[in-house]
Amino acid sequence: MLVNIAVFVSGNGSNLESLLNYKFINGTINLVISNNANAYALIRAKKHNISTEVITFDNNFENNVLQILRKHNIDCIVLAGFIKILNSNIIKAYPNKIINIHPSLIPSFCGKGFYGIRIHEEVIRYGVKISGASVHYVNEVVDGGQIILQKAISVCKKDTPQSLQKKILKLEHKLLPKATQILINKTLKEKNGKHK
Ligand code: GRF
Repeated sequence: MLVNIAVFVSGNGSNLESLLNYKFINGTINLVISNNANAYALIRAKKHNISTEVITFDNNFENNVLQILRKHNIDCIVLAGFIKILNSNIIKAYPNKIINIHPSLIPSFCGKGFYGIRIHEEVIRYGVKISGASVHYVNEVVDGGQIILQKAISVCKKDTPQSLQKKILKLEHKLLPKATQILINKTLKEKNGKHK
């Protein structure tokens, strides 16, 4: 039995690429969803022959997403640079089956308004000495679900928000596939349990 995964993206998709290049055991990425028709992530998906769907942020966004997820028999969702906060219908339909990657050490520098380069600007402004990346389950609190994996790096004196972002992105590319494999293992156990 395979675990079917959908990856949600909005932009460049370097994290998606790290997932597409990873050899998962008992799981496959079979759908990439984006709100942005021009996301480079979609080109990456197509190069790997993965189905893509563009869903615009209108009033029907959540229903459309749920319909497409059902059509593709999706078991779990990985948010890899997705800019929208998911509403509770999707979270309820996939309890503990959605994970997100965030480029800071949660619970620092996270929550509403902490995204993109702003996170790293704040890290530098505070002068914190370590930062990093976190992968966590998604619940109804923004960046508030349980942490699955985390990795830290030192913030050096010469670091700029941009250099920090680059370093952390490299960490993310290692962390996200590992956390996704953990999600696959957990989901498979539950799926097998249901079929006994
Ligand atoms: C990453 O830093 C991720 O942690 C954040 O958005 C960024 C996406 O980068 N949620 P990419 O599109 O995967 O290159």
